[in-house]
Amino acid sequence: MDFSQYSFNPVDHEFLQDPYPAFAYLRDKDPVHWSDLGLWVVTRFEDCRATLVGKHFGQGDFVKNIQLFYGDDFDVMSHPSYAWRSRVFVMQDPPAHTRVRGLVSGALSLKRIRAMEQRIRQLAVQLLDDFDRSGSENFITDFAYQFPTRVMCDMLGMSDEEYPPELLLKLNQAIADSFIVFETRALSQAELDRADSQMRFLTGVFDELFARRRAHPEDDLTTAMLQSQEGGDTLTPEELSTSVIGLFGAGFETTAHMLGNGMYCLGKYPEQRQHLVDDPGLAAHATEEILRYESSLQASYRTALAQQTIAGQTIERGQRVLAIVAAANRDETHFDNPEVFDISPREQKPLTFGGGIHYCVGAELARLEGRVFFEELVQRYPNFSVDVDNARLRQAFLFRGFEYLPVYLQGK
Ligand code: HEM
Repeated sequence: MDFSQYSFNPVDHEFLQDPYPAFAYLRDKDPVHWSDLGLWVVTRFEDCRATLVGKHFGQGDFVKNIQLFYGDDFDVMSHPSYAWRSRVFVMQDPPAHTRVRGLVSGALSLKRIRAMEQRIRQLAVQLLDDFDRSGSENFITDFAYQFPTRVMCDMLGMSDEEYPPELLLKLNQAIADSFIVFETRALSQAELDRADSQMRFLTGVFDELFARRRAHPEDDLTTAMLQSQEGGDTLTPEELSTSVIGLFGAGFETTAHMLGNGMYCLGKYPEQRQHLVDDPGLAAHATEEILRYESSLQASYRTALAQQTIAGQTIERGQRVLAIVAAANRDETHFDNPEVFDISPREQKPLTFGGGIHYCVGAELARLEGRVFFEELVQRYPNFSVDVDNARLRQAFLFRGFEYLPVYLQGK
């Protein structure tokens, strides 16, 4: 690819197939890149980290940031899907962010996550066996999308009786259709209509769940969120449903594609696959390497709250910066042999879960799901194979993963 006139374009087909050459070019030649989209793009590890943790970067004016894609006449807040996104705490700056994050992460404690390990293992085994018996070959739809959803439902106390498989499929579809509002582009009218109606559906489902737990508390995350308190403060009903949709969605495509991208990498690099089969104790390191090498969330945005510089480039107050963590994770000044997929322990941690005040609240849960899944996979199905030549990538930038990934648990 000729990069002499390069302008970052997240909908370009060739770029989406393999964004890493463009990332390498940007890191080397144009580390603070002005894109025709009207935003800055940073790709080096230190610059991405500084952007994500910097006190003078925040979320900025939500409406103006979305209007960048559509034009000034676009009525952002009339869309329930964008209105939801504006309220979710990842989009807030302190002090609003500090308050809601504190209450939510108090409920989603490390203790609650660690206590889930046995149950996560049972679910991984059951869904792997179901996938094997089903004769299906699409690992993405028939395993990866189901596993994190089932884990989250379990944590929230959503029983199989109340939420049968058909309803879970509808929930998954609703999350996928409405989380499209995070993409770095204008949506079509049809996409917007679908995102809005699916957001109304999700709000209804979770409002009802909270109403039931308010009446009959249980030992689950839903009740913990209702009861979460800090200095007498609690989450309002609107904050509860906004946050739980955020948790559900934030942990869904990201975790599903972490597993899918991992399977793809293990299929593509058979010596690494063998390494893991020979030593399942490497599952935690394999998960970390998958998160680094083929990050399922490629980037995060910030807005400059005051004029400042990144790597010598002035960023004006109000300008948007896209920090591409997937590019940072391949920075040769930070990682040894970053273009090599190697599941042996590495000293440096990837930037995949972000940093600073917005550091992913589900990072430990995602890591646990990854470790448990890869341990069970290689112990129960050591002959598994992945048909990487026939895998089909999704055509989306922000959440990177496959729509079709043929996996044969008994080998082919
Ligand atoms: C492989 C899986 C995951 C990846 C790659 C990922 C990545 C990220 C990143 C990069 C951020 C920071 C965004 C920013 O700074 O703008 C973030 C925030 C967040 N993540 Fe995750 N995440 C994953 C799984 C999860 C899970 C399982 C949950 C929930 C159970 C979750 C919940 C959240 C929430 C609520 C935030 C917002 C935190 C805040 O704004 O304070 N994530 N995630």
